[in-house]
Amino acid sequence: MVADLISLMKTQRACRAFLSEPVSDATIGRVLDAAVHAPSAENSQPWEFIVVRDAERRARIGDLMARAWQAHGRDHSRGRLSAALFTDVDVGLSGGIAAAPVLVVVAVDHRRCNAASLGSSIFPAVQNLLLAAAALGLGSALTTIATVYGDELRFLVGLPAALEPIAVIPLGVPARKLGPPRREPFARHTHREGYGQPWEGSTLKPDLPD
Ligand SMILES: Cc1cc2nc3c(=O)[nH]c(=O)nc-3n(C[C@H](O)[C@H](O)[C@H](O)COP(=O)(O)O)c2cc1C
Repeated sequence: MVADLISLMKTQRACRAFLSEPVSDATIGRVLDAAVHAPSAENSQPWEFIVVRDAERRARIGDLMARAWQAHGRDHSRGRLSAALFTDVDVGLSGGIAAAPVLVVVAVDHRRCNAASLGSSIFPAVQNLLLAAAALGLGSALTTIATVYGDELRFLVGLPAALEPIAVIPLGVPARKLGPPRREPFARHTHREGYGQPWEGSTLKPDLPD
């Protein structure tokens, strides 16, 4: 089971193209039940999830993504992302993501969370959501670009003013198998006792600062 969880963590990755095959409420329930078991500051659990299936509402959210990508992301990302990632994001934000049968809009309730711990109290739940989706054979992706037009997104899913949309996560059966995620080895960014003492090959202990 531990091996399963670790291998899931090492294979989960962003999916931006989906089959139209539906996802049942029971499956969504299992995914969100895993999400809400995440930690949050003071156990504030400041999340709200809006599950969007309606094709027109999904298309409107997709329009926000496409607009934000064209206006604020595309030119900036070209050349910064690898060609393969750029194409995947470009196609995904131009309709691929919104074509997933389900979009989950994740919102934070400011009344239940102070500003300083907003992200740190929401994204663990988002990560649980992504991993649970993968465990159930679903593709998903953490996307935040639609929040560039947060007020419009809020309006589309009826969020009151105290609730801020944080992410939009598509859920569905992946249109194709995703390869392994590309990550640098952990040892490249891991240090012993203090920064600069590499994880691999160092034995010296740096002095404690006075
Ligand atoms: C804070 C955050 C915001 C992201 N926003 C977007 C997004 O708006 N659109 C998108 O296509 N992917 C988005 N991603 C997904 C990243 O592009 C993806 O995690 C990264 O490229 C690694 O790719 P992989 O999961 O395929 O290995 C976001 C990821 C994070 C952590």
